[in-house]
Amino acid sequence: MTDWQGKKVLIAGGASGIGAATAEAYRRAGAVTAVFDIAYAADTIAEDRIELAVDLADAAAVEAAFERLWAHWDALDVLVNNAGVELVASLEETSEAAWDRVMNVNLKSMFLCCKAALPRLKASGGNIVNTASQLAFVGAASFTAYTASKAAVVNFTRSLALETAAAGVRVNCVCPGAIDTPLLRRQFTGRLGPQGSLDDLVGMHPLGRLGRPEEIAACILFLSGGAASFVTGSAMLADGGYTIH
Ligand SMILES: NC(=O)c1ccc[n+]([C@@H]2O[C@H](COP(=O)([O-])OP(=O)(O)OC[C@H]3O[C@@H](n4cnc5c(N)ncnc54)[C@H](O)[C@@H]3O)[C@@H](O)[C@H]2O)c1
Repeated sequence: MTDWQGKKVLIAGGASGIGAATAEAYRRAGAVTAVFDIAYAADTIAEDRIELAVDLADAAAVEAAFERLWAHWDALDVLVNNAGVELVASLEETSEAAWDRVMNVNLKSMFLCCKAALPRLKASGGNIVNTASQLAFVGAASFTAYTASKAAVVNFTRSLALETAAAGVRVNCVCPGAIDTPLLRRQFTGRLGPQGSLDDLVGMHPLGRLGRPEEIAACILFLSGGAASFVTGSAMLADGGYTIH
């Protein structure tokens, strides 16, 4: 069991959905959390949490956010890279700007945050968990940018795990199936998603339901905790069986 009491956990992309459930789970376990997210209207600095409004796709904004964080925290135990945007569009409908946005939020943000956090993680023997997707492993029509970004997250995770292993920093990723969050619900607003209806999407999961944000938070806490001390470079599927066949 990990003693999370007083541990410092940064969640990049944690104002809603999986990230919010993850921040809540860490705090319930006794950790203090910092969240960087574009959705915040204002910053919050409190005893058990720090919330900073940051566009994680913007290198200068990320650098400034870490400077503000280090003014309050002298250490970091876990970095969770969870920010993500989805794009439901055929290749022909996808603009260069939309492609770049998906890559910059889903992938470049991880590069920027890992680079800024690594010195502190090395000092504390901390670790990193990235959020990929079950769509890192299978194709999906109208998801070229999203699936490409998530497949890249898996190999980014593996390569960084090799780079940091000698320093004792583990790097893993979690690969959720369809989880009932605002991001998923947006896919089915206004028009049917490319998979058809929400019921059709549910039917693609052998467990016969959508996942809950708390179920992915539990995987993230496991991967970042002491029970996973020999786990690095792994891509943990938590997809209700979506990718079995
Ligand atoms: N919901 C699913 O079915 C599902 C499945 C697989 C993977 N994922 C991944 O899980 C992660 C969380 O998604 P979610 O479903 O909880 O969605 P969500 O929309 O509820 O949460 C995503 C968070 O990322 C933040 N964010 C987006 N762009 C940002 C930016 N530029 N800078 C800072 N923050 C930004 C949003 O404000 C939000 O708080 C994403 O990486 C997503 O790709 C989700």
